[in-house]
Amino acid sequence: MSFIDEMNSVNALIVGANRGIGLGFVKKLLQDDRIAKVYTTYRQSESASELIFLAGEHSERLICLEMDISDESQIIKAVQKIYAQVDKLHLVVNCVGLLHEDTLQPEKSLRQLN
Ligand SMILES: NC(=O)c1ccc[n+]([C@@H]2O[C@H](COP(=O)([O-])OP(=O)(O)OC[C@H]3O[C@@H](n4cnc5c(N)ncnc54)[C@H](OP(=O)(O)O)[C@@H]3O)[C@@H](O)[C@H]2O)c1
Repeated sequence: MSFIDEMNSVNALIVGANRGIGLGFVKKLLQDDRIAKVYTTYRQSESASELIFLAGEHSERLICLEMDISDESQIIKAVQKIYAQVDKLHLVVNCVGLLHEDTLQPEKSLRQLN
């Protein structure tokens, strides 16, 4: 049993929600009536079209906030917007990250760690 099972009204924040695992979390949470608000962040609207479309369909529950996590002023702005609407977040999932790029690959064994 998860803590959501014991609550009727849960506010969630998914950071990095425009694609991948984050977008998957958003879709799953929207199917759950116990989730009151889903706050989500994306970096650029050009790569967040599916998330923004979903927000149009669930305008009462899904809120999209622009936030690059390497810019502290954007983090502060997003947090202020959230706490202007709700006094508590019950679930926060950070999906922002970088698994691989041209010169960086995920390590698959301890031998690859330095
Ligand atoms: N998928 C897997 O099998 C797997 C396995 C192990 C670990 N992980 C880790 O789990 C996390 C999520 O995985 P994923 O597959 O969903 O990754 P993904 O599809 O590559 O998504 C990465 C997310 O991070 C965002 N992001 C990157 N830098 C950012 C920044 N400075 N500010 C704001 N957002 C930023 C991206 O936004 P943009 O679209 O704007 O770039 C995107 O939303 C990553 O850390 C990944 O390394 C994933």
